[in-house]
Amino acid sequence: MAKLGLNVDHFATVRQARLGAEPDPVIAAAMGELAGAEGITIHLREDRRHIQDRDLEIMRKTVKTKFNLEMAPSVEMVDIACRVKPDQCTLVPENREELTTEGGLDVVAHLVGISLSVNTLHAAGIKVSLFIDPSPDQINASYMTDADAIEIHTGRYADAQDEKARQQELEAIRDAIVLGHKQGLTVHAGHGLNYVNIIPLARFSGIEEFNIGHSIVARAMYVGLDQAVRDMVRLIRQ
Ligand code: PXP
Repeated sequence: MAKLGLNVDHFATVRQARLGAEPDPVIAAAMGELAGAEGITIHLREDRRHIQDRDLEIMRKTVKTKFNLEMAPSVEMVDIACRVKPDQCTLVPENREELTTEGGLDVVAHLVGISLSVNTLHAAGIKVSLFIDPSPDQINASYMTDADAIEIHTGRYADAQDEKARQQELEAIRDAIVLGHKQGLTVHAGHGLNYVNIIPLARFSGIEEFNIGHSIVARAMYVGLDQAVRDMVRLIRQ
């Protein structure tokens, strides 16, 4: 059964709007777990635009489920991860100007550097997932880095403008799951998923974890975080 990894970055985004203390993503993470999230995800960005080092340090001590740190495969971030030791690091590309992570990692082009990050994180006892587009080349390259998992970037699926494009993207994701498993990789998925587009994906077998942030935090503003998490967990489990 797939698990929900709740991304709490947006609680930090609101907090940073006033550079104050509220809302606290640490509290959101605990509430999310109480509501049924089986993992907590945060992205510590180089520019610290939302999640801060303090959030990472505290959540390492308070998160009771799987603690997943999204980060760029940079020397600074790998050093931080090796010290704090989240359960899993998801390596993502990072670009200062972007509103959110825009594409998957180019593992083919950066095979040596990413393999080095994977090895260093493994030596610290941390599992590694690579956030990649559903492309056979990227999956095969991910296998070569010795990563434990891939997170399929579902952004193109989420942004598809018509049914034909959506079906094409779903097929690409299904093929990526099959190839990922063939290569011995655990398969996760995330980005742009909401209460509607999760439904076809939740029917696929073989996705172990969905990392979802924006749509859950948006719904939480209307119905509260507890209800928003429960609604998504129910859809994933159905
Ligand atoms: N997975 C990864 C690797 C991401 O970078 C993000 C965005 O931080 C997400 C999942 C969650 O995306 P969304 O906020 O659109 O649900």
